[in-house]
This record gives sequence, structure tokens and C-alpha cells, in this order.
Amino acid sequence: MDYKKGKYKVKNIKLADEGRKKIEWAESRMPVMMALRAKYSKTKPLKGYRIAGCLHVTKETAVLCETLVAAGAKVSWSGCNPLSTQDDVAAALAKNGLEIYAWHGQDVKDFYWSIDRTLDMKPNLTLDDGADLIFTVHKKYPKLAKEIIGGTEETTTGVHRLRAMAADGKLLYPVIAVNDAETKWDFDNVYGTGQSSIDGILRATSVLLAGKNFVVAGYGHCGKGCAMRAAGLGANVIVTEVKATAALKATLEGHTVMTMDEAAKIGDIFITATGVKDIITKKHFEKMREGAIVCNTGHYDCEINLNDLEKIKKAKRTVRPNNEEYTLKNGKKIYVLAQGRLVNLAAAEGHPSEVMDMSFANQFMSQLRLAGYDKQGILLEPEVIDIPVTQDQEIAGIKLKTMGYKIDKLSKEQEVYMTDYSSGT
Ligand code: ADE
Repeated sequence: MDYKKGKYKVKNIKLADEGRKKIEWAESRMPVMMALRAKYSKTKPLKGYRIAGCLHVTKETAVLCETLVAAGAKVSWSGCNPLSTQDDVAAALAKNGLEIYAWHGQDVKDFYWSIDRTLDMKPNLTLDDGADLIFTVHKKYPKLAKEIIGGTEETTTGVHRLRAMAADGKLLYPVIAVNDAETKWDFDNVYGTGQSSIDGILRATSVLLAGKNFVVAGYGHCGKGCAMRAAGLGANVIVTEVKATAALKATLEGHTVMTMDEAAKIGDIFITATGVKDIITKKHFEKMREGAIVCNTGHYDCEINLNDLEKIKKAKRTVRPNNEEYTLKNGKKIYVLAQGRLVNLAAAEGHPSEVMDMSFANQFMSQLRLAGYDKQGILLEPEVIDIPVTQDQEIAGIKLKTMGYKIDKLSKEQEVYMTDYSSGT
């Protein structure tokens, strides 16, 4: 491990050149972020702001970090998942002067140590994916919250928890729900999760998906993306749900719907995307087919109950990177990918750059917005704040332009027509 107090702790600083090539690759596919960088590196609207971030350390995140720095911010960073850090990228960021504490394969102690270090610089803005940084401020360093203008949150799970905290009157500072931007959830959660989760499964197993029974637990945006891509590769998709409307949508998309108790008996590959714990438990493992493959793409690693699996196992061995074979006492073999953690980030590289371009443009613009309010002396309530529709349109507009597409514009008459309630048939 390479450690310089107050600067970085990364696996191996010598990996920096490899990491830099990956970051350059991501930059070449993130035109919205690069346009924002070019614009705000001149005016430096984030000068004087100290941003602590806790988000997967990937090549795309590196583009976000370096854009925040280019806009004038002082940034300290940790990863938001013990298995998602790309060590070469972390090294490249550290070598370029970013304060970063992140390495692949952290244990829980390392994970919180890293968050603590990012808070040493007493941030006035926070940036989260999963809200572990915000929770740490609230639980361990509540005095720091007084200096914090606001935060931003990347993911569905984090936003749910923060809304619950705000409803209980426990949230100490305002947080912008980046996840709820249309240019985030309708792209990143669906197409990003869909592609990168299948990528993770294939890298960890190299199995053929065509003809397999592919069970998707949860038909939210992430589950929908996984189901869509698995179906595209010829799998028979089975969806399990607790919400009637979501289940109904799944059937109309051509998928089969059943309970997990039933699906457990026939599934070949299982992926959880629910944000809820104990989706696959002992009773399901016991029913599974020989050779069943189980993985998760939800934020936390509680969707597959691995403690249950440990209790009924006879033996365990790693058969491929990110693929552990459990032999049960009844002789059956079950394969668990990425230790039940986010399979797309632990076994692959996370969502592709093109989609993170829009998610991180939302992060960046939300940080600017918080700083802008601060500069105008506007105090926001400690609640969860939505992304303005104009921000979505601006980001989607830049993205389309960089892709070379043009769209039509409503005429004045058409605009009037749309809200004219005096006309009818
Ligand atoms: N979440 C999902 N994919 C990601 C990526 N490539 N970078 C950062 N966070 C992510």
C-alpha cells in the first residue's frame, strides 16, 4: 500500500500511468463533462469550496473529480464500495495531486477510515453514492455539518434513505437528489446497469446467456435494464417483484413473472436489483438447480443472504476471478459472483463512460448549484431537493449535440395550442 498522510492511500502509485490511459479513454467518451470542464475551468466557480466525495473510484469518476478540481474546488475522495475501486485509476488521481483514500479489497474498517480521512479537510460540500459519507458526518462528526452547505446523492438507495431521514427531521443539511434527474435514472439506471451487469456476469463466468432462465429480482429501472439486455442475448427472463404495477410492466415487456420461491427452482442465473435485504435466502438456495449462478447489482451487499449460504455449505473455493463455488451439504454447487456486491463494478468496470457522462454532469451541476446558492446567501432547508427540469434539458441537449443529432423546436402557435383549453375536437 502507498500512503502519504494528508495526500493519498492507494494500492500502488506505480499503476498511475495505466490509470491515466483509462482516464483519457473515458474523457474521449464524456463530451458533456469535457464541455463543462472547458467552460468552468476559466471562471472557477468552485474556488474556495472543499468537496469530500465518496463514490466508486472508476475512470469515469476520475473525470468528475478532475472537472471539480478544474472548476476550482479542493477535493478529497474515497470509494463507496470495498470492491469497486480501480487501483490504477486511484493511483493516477493521486499522482495528479488529488487527495484520495481508496483501494480495491478494503475491509469495513478501511472503508470507514478512508471516509474519515476525506473529512479531515472539513468539507463545505459533500458528494455521495449510497450516502455513507453523509451518514458518517451525521453519526460521527455532527459538528462538521454546521460548515456544510449541502450535498449531492447519486443513487436510488441513498435518496430513499435520505428522504426517510429528512421526514424524521434528522437530516442536518440539504441534499440534491442527483439520482432523480431524468438524465440520470432513465439512462444510467436502465442502460448503464443493464449493460454493465451483463458485462460483470460474463467476465466472471463466460457462460452463454441464450436459452438460460435468467431471474431478475426487482423490476425498477435497474432490473428493467438487466432484463432487457439478458432478453436481447436470448435468455428467458423471469422477473420477481413485490409491486403489482412493476410486475405488470414486466409481463407486458414479454417477461415471465413469478415468486422467488418458484423462480428459485428453475433459474440458471439470478440477479438482485431491489435495494432490499434478504431477497435470496436459505430456502431459495436449497431449491436451486445444480450450477446456479447468483449475483447482485443493488447498492448494498445484503440482497443475497450469504450468511445463510455459509451455514449450509460444505466447501467453498474461488474458481475464477469474482466467482466463488459453494458446495452445499447436499452436494449441489452454487456460484456466487463478486461476493454478492455490485457485480457490474466489482467484476467489470461499472457503467460505460457515455452514460456516466450525463450522471456526472448532474453531479457537477448540482455542486455548482449549491455553491451558487451559497454565494447568493440563500440558505436551503435541510431536505432532499429535486433537480430542476431545465438542468435535465440542458444536459440532454449538450449530449445530443455532441452525438451529432438535431431536434425540432415548437413554434409559438404550437406552444399556445398545447395549453389552449378552449379548443377541442
Ligand atoms: N456507478 C455505476 N457505474 C459507475 C462508473 N462507471 N463510475 C462510477 N460510478 C458508477
